[in-house]
Parts: sequence; C-alpha cells; structure tokens
Amino acid sequence: MKIAVIGANGQLGSGICSAFSGRHEVLELTHDDIEISDGKNVLNVLGRMRPDLIVNTAADHVVPECEKNAGKAFQVNGLGALNLAQAASELGCKIAHFSTDYVFDGVTKQPYIESDKPNPLNVYAATKLAGEYFTLNYCARSFVIRVSGIYGKVPCRAKGGNFITTMVKAAAERPEVKVVNDEVLTPTPVSAIAGNTLSLVETEEFGLYHMTCEGCCSWYEFALAIFETMKLKTPLSACSVSDFPSPVKRPFYSVLENDRLKRIGLNQMPPWREALMAFIEENYQ
Ligand SMILES: NC(=O)c1ccc[n+]([C@@H]2O[C@H](COP(=O)([O-])OP(=O)(O)OC[C@H]3O[C@@H](n4cnc5c(N)ncnc54)[C@H](OP(=O)(O)O)[C@@H]3O)[C@@H](O)[C@H]2O)c1
Repeated sequence: MKIAVIGANGQLGSGICSAFSGRHEVLELTHDDIEISDGKNVLNVLGRMRPDLIVNTAADHVVPECEKNAGKAFQVNGLGALNLAQAASELGCKIAHFSTDYVFDGVTKQPYIESDKPNPLNVYAATKLAGEYFTLNYCARSFVIRVSGIYGKVPCRAKGGNFITTMVKAAAERPEVKVVNDEVLTPTPVSAIAGNTLSLVETEEFGLYHMTCEGCCSWYEFALAIFETMKLKTPLSACSVSDFPSPVKRPFYSVLENDRLKRIGLNQMPPWREALMAFIEENYQ
C-alpha cells in the first residue's frame, strides 16, 4: 500500500513510519507539508499523492492549552478529522485515525470497551470525540484507534518529551519526586501501537478500536517501575491529584480493554510492565 502518515515527525507518527516502511511505501507528512484544519490544503496535498491509506496522528493535544483555546482544538481535532475523512472518501482510500482514552469520564472503575458510552470531561477530550464521529461517519473505510499514556523513542513534539524522560530529569534535578497515585491508566509504547496498527490496517475490519498494553497502573506505580528498572536513587513518593489543583477536569480512571482486537483475533499488545522494561533496556541500557 501507499500510505500517507500525517504528523510523521511526532512521537507516534515517527514510530508508525518506521514500523510501516518495511512493508509499505510510506509518504511522510509533517505540519510543514499539510495543515489538517484546512480542507482545501488537505485535498490538494493528498489528491497529488493518491494514497491507499491515510494515517492521522496529528492533534492539538496539550490539555490545558485546549481548554484555553477551544476553537483551535476543535479546528484541529474535530474539523481536521472531518477534512481527512472526507478526503479519504473522495480519494477512495482507507483512513486510520488516533484518539484517546480521555473520551471516558472514569466514573466506572472497570476497563472500558468500545461500546461503552463516552463522556468527555474536558475540551481536548470532547474535540477528540468529535473527531472520532467525523472519521467513522464520513469515511466508510475507517479505523479509529484509542490509545493511552504513550511513550516512544522520539519525544512528543507538543509536550516536549514523555513520562520516562520527565522522571529521569526530575530524579536528576530534585531532592524528592512526588507522583499522583489516584489517576489510573495503561502506559503503552509507540512501537507496540505501531506494530498492532500495521496488522489492523492490512484488514478490512473497519471501526472503533481500543489499543493499549494489557493491565494498568497509577502514574505513581508507572514512576516506581521506571525508578526501579533504571535504578534511580532519588526518593519517590505518592501524592494525590488534589495536591496539584487544576481547573481542567481529567478522568481518574481511563483503562481501555482491547475488546474488538481480541474478538477479531488481532490483539498483539504486551503487558505494560514488560513493554516498559523492554523499552528501557533498548533505549537506556
Ligand atoms: N501523548 C499521549 O500520551 C497520548 C495519549 C492518548 C492519545 N494520544 C493521541 O496520539 C496522537 C499522537 O500524539 P503524539 O504524542 O505523537 O503527538 P506529537 O508528538 O505532538 O505529534 C503530533 C504531530 O502532529 C503535527 N500536527 C499538529 N497539528 C497539526 C495540524 N493542524 N496539521 C498537521 N499536522 C499537525 C505536529 O507537528 P508540529 O509539532 O510541527 O505542529 C506533530 O508532527 C494524537 O492524536 C493524540 O491525541 C496521545
């Protein structure tokens, strides 16, 4: 397949490009090459390329910034997804669009499956949910893939790193590190998402998917696993979200179950701790 990857120099996009390039022709598109909130630009750029598949990893996803500038967040996460879905439909190609665990409110503390009702608590999450609906309803050949707590070799461009780099830096610079213990998620490396996405997009099993590692932990437990594996000596302690008051609401629990992937026999996601240890070994030791 000829595959156009949008956000190709981002954390997830770069991992998708590496995983896909051995099996497919990959056309890497950065923000300099395409503006997804501009429908005409999207059709021009993609119309010239004529891809068989568009993979969209681009988003406006710094949660507090989205809260301050909801218009921009909707332009990129909502209308950007609509522009891409309409272009995919017009060009007769497939589209894979990435979304987030944040579409859920976390009130039910049981892993969410794809048919569970979303209830986004903040602007970022609401605009990402709009993007999901636009993708699924404006392109019949679409995959929407919800991911969570991602980290990869290439830093997140919008946030300037990942949780592991943040912990390493904090351990080096601070006398003590405190991490919240009452927000639960599933940390997931980009390489696992990219590999499983590759298997999925080669099928015609369109629709909504959850794609995270197996199991879950709090941010504190995630940090503890990093500290232990990397033998960081700085004292680490648990604290509560209420210790860092924020005007932005976030779900306290956003664990996803890869139910649809399992049903079609395509769940290839490893346990989160195993994946973390492999990532640290490969990148730090
Ligand atoms: N990070 C997480 O933990 C997490 C969790 C759940 C879901 N997600 C989702 O995962 C996806 C990828 O995240 P990531 O960490 O890979 O982000 P990232 O490193 O910030 O990469 C995003 C890429 O999209 C590009 N981009 C941004 N706005 C664009 C626009 N309007 N038009 C075209 N390109 C644009 C960025 O380019 P510039 O930087 O040059 O603008 C960058 O290349 C997003 O959909 C996000 O919502 C992430």
